[in-house]
Amino acid sequence: MRIAPPDTIRLKDYKPTDFTVSHIDLNVFLGPGQTSVQSRLQLTPRPGGGGTLVLDGEELELAAVAIDDHMLAADEYTYTGKKLTIHAPPASAFTLMITQFCNPEANTKLSGLYLTNGTYCTQMEAEGFRRFAFMYDRPDVMATYTVRIDAPKTMPVVLSNGNQVKSTDSTEENRHVVEWHDPHPKPTYLFALVAGDLGSVHDHFLTSEGRNVSLGIYVEKGKEDRCTWAMESLKASMRWDEERFGRAYDLDVFNIVAVSDFNMGAMENKGLNIFNDKYILARPDTATDTDYVNIERIIAHEYFHNWTGNRITCRDWFQLCLKEGLTVFRDQEFTSDLRSRAVKRIEDVKTLRARQFPEDQGPLAHAVRPASYIEINNFYTPTIYEKGAEICRMMMTMFGRDTFRDGTDLFFERHDGEAATVEDFLRCMADASGRDLTHFSQWYEQAGTPIVTVKTAYDAAAKQFTAVISQHTPGTPGQMDKQPQHMPLTLGLLGRDGHQLPLLTKENVSLHDGILELSDASLTLTFRNLSERPVLSINRSFSAPVILHSDASDDDLLLQMAHDSDSFNRWEAAQTSALRLLLKAYAGADVHVSAFARSLQQTLAAPELDTAFKALMLQLPGEAEITATIGKDVDATLVHKSRTGVLQALSSHLTEDLRRVLDDTEERGPYRPDPGSTGNRSLYLAALAFLANSDADTAVRIAQTKFEAARNMTIEAGALAAVLRVNDARVATMLDTFYARHQTDHLLVDKWFMLAAARPADNPAQRIETLTKHSAFTFKTPNRVYALIGGFTGGNLAGFHAADGSGYTLLADVILTLDALNPQVASRMATSFRSWKQYDAVRRDKAAAEMQRILARSGLSNDVYEIISRTLA
Ligand code: TRP
Ligand code: ZN
Repeated sequence: MRIAPPDTIRLKDYKPTDFTVSHIDLNVFLGPGQTSVQSRLQLTPRPGGGGTLVLDGEELELAAVAIDDHMLAADEYTYTGKKLTIHAPPASAFTLMITQFCNPEANTKLSGLYLTNGTYCTQMEAEGFRRFAFMYDRPDVMATYTVRIDAPKTMPVVLSNGNQVKSTDSTEENRHVVEWHDPHPKPTYLFALVAGDLGSVHDHFLTSEGRNVSLGIYVEKGKEDRCTWAMESLKASMRWDEERFGRAYDLDVFNIVAVSDFNMGAMENKGLNIFNDKYILARPDTATDTDYVNIERIIAHEYFHNWTGNRITCRDWFQLCLKEGLTVFRDQEFTSDLRSRAVKRIEDVKTLRARQFPEDQGPLAHAVRPASYIEINNFYTPTIYEKGAEICRMMMTMFGRDTFRDGTDLFFERHDGEAATVEDFLRCMADASGRDLTHFSQWYEQAGTPIVTVKTAYDAAAKQFTAVISQHTPGTPGQMDKQPQHMPLTLGLLGRDGHQLPLLTKENVSLHDGILELSDASLTLTFRNLSERPVLSINRSFSAPVILHSDASDDDLLLQMAHDSDSFNRWEAAQTSALRLLLKAYAGADVHVSAFARSLQQTLAAPELDTAFKALMLQLPGEAEITATIGKDVDATLVHKSRTGVLQALSSHLTEDLRRVLDDTEERGPYRPDPGSTGNRSLYLAALAFLANSDADTAVRIAQTKFEAARNMTIEAGALAAVLRVNDARVATMLDTFYARHQTDHLLVDKWFMLAAARPADNPAQRIETLTKHSAFTFKTPNRVYALIGGFTGGNLAGFHAADGSGYTLLADVILTLDALNPQVASRMATSFRSWKQYDAVRRDKAAAEMQRILARSGLSNDVYEIISRTLA
């Protein structure tokens, strides 16, 4: 058991450092065995600062400390294992020299300098630099860097940030030295270093400012032919940031390195992005359409950080959303501009509902800018990223695109080279738009998802239609009392024939471009001159990240589904209709699916709708969303069963239509990852999966044929996934075949583990446990853990939430095993418990007991302690 809870870091305690660091020289001698790092830090006391100098350092061996070439005696400094204190540093500028050792070979946390697949690489965000060298490991201390790396010649590729300035032989045999210099001051978390025997592809990009930038992508040797898409995506990102945000690249080199052991998706180190190779490597026969889109999106995201994150960084980690929310918003806009805006918006809302809403409605709810944390790695959350992006989007909706651009221009102009705060950003937005954002800024402080309720009435005599729109945000841990939020609600009216009606409001409520700004708890809107009851289409394009409770009738929803001029709300109406059916089925009531089925038929036949949109219309709310809507005492088994029943009934109504879709979208010609052919494949696979609900035999037969003849991974893995939940020996055979075909390709082995984890089984937890013993499984590679364990807790809800608690026991065992190796990954897995309170008492008791068992483990990491203790509270 833990003696005392770990320290809590608070925003209100922020204080600048006593010293600034203007430049850092690093001399790195890479293994074998330990790696030595000699650092020279140029320090200056701040006015009013001075006194002792306290630097961060963890798991380091300290060999020597000197100031201005004068060695310090042992009593002139103290290293506690966390902090290095120099007791009496000089009162004016000086050079601090430190010799330290770290052990990349033994680094299983994948934070700091580590070895992956024979390649040295770093991951410094958020607090990894302190595991490499002593330094102020915080984002508001920015320095220029010169890095000299001595590496064995068996590692010809040696990279760091900025420009390469020298490459020579080492004084030691069979080694060489490469020197890099980064002229842009940066915080420690953006430092990177890579050394290995890697393959590479190269290209150039000419910026709008006339700079010819050398682009390089470094990957495992032999995989160079899987970099084409990543390189295209990089150039597209560079072009888009110039055109849409006026941001050009600022160095002569931009390198990307792909590694197979990485805690997260990718990292935006200045001039040297490091990626999880899952988000770089793509060839039609190894990557799916989803992989292609993700690669494009994540390359863009990391590239966009060069301005939103690197040129302007964060003052402290409480401001994380300043770079992440804004950069996610920017990458969403990039994808919207390159592909279909409507489809992208629907997909982003699906992600928000699947990941951020459960967080906001559960024990881990926190503000987009939290006031405190124990372990910062636990705050790289859907709330900071996705809800943070929604806040930026709301501002763009309220101001208009051009004024929003004025705001970002002002931000870049005013804060370039600085470590900024959310207030700095909001001030630029307020100054550029001339608006008072005092109330709006509450989105950063108040956790929880607002519930917006709409109650309508039609007065035939007066020809008036009234909507009372009110909002309420349920309490969240530590923040029980909520205030109304300031939000834009985009709306429109539909006549009974489906046509858009003019918005003639009665009162003096302004509705610019159909945008209503709600800032009070409640507001009444009256529309006049209406000869029949219209249908209100509200929160179009999901203009505010809220839960909508509307009194729309079932018929209103079907009308919207067929005619709403806002594609998002066409989809949303289908989701709401389906959810109503699913909830009825769960409650054991009679469910009449024919009207909804007819609307789906019309959707599938509508010539004006594109295939990607139709595919989304066929994907009904999942078990997690149904569970969250029911909210408490949920029986996971019944959710699964009742949903399956509804799908079956719908599917039998649609058999003919689905077969027609399968014929129409049958793949012809070579694979291309463009939006049109991607949409066709996604509709094809969605139709196949839908058909499996009522005619499993035919679906499996088609899937098998496609699987055998597949010329691309989208169809190969997609056909298998479409019938994965069918209890049929042919599906099991396909799964075995998939492994046999692809066992030497680690990314495809991950896909196999993920598919295997989602397949229903008699004793699901037992099956997962057996898979952890599979020769291809390891707890040391995060992707493998996310595939198998994440595939189970997220892709097999009925299995994970089995009433006997076996899923929870398995997860607890896994978390404890992982915690000793990699606390960041352990803690990410621990968030799978986040919705436990929504389930029935039998499940709650079992989940709580397993969480107690985790907390009782001695030596538990702060990461897992924080997540589990908050989840349990
Ligand atoms: N800054 C990265 C991004 O969003 C996130 C990231 C990569 C990260 N690796 C990490 C965060 C390790 C914490 C720990 O682009
Ligand atoms: Zn990011």
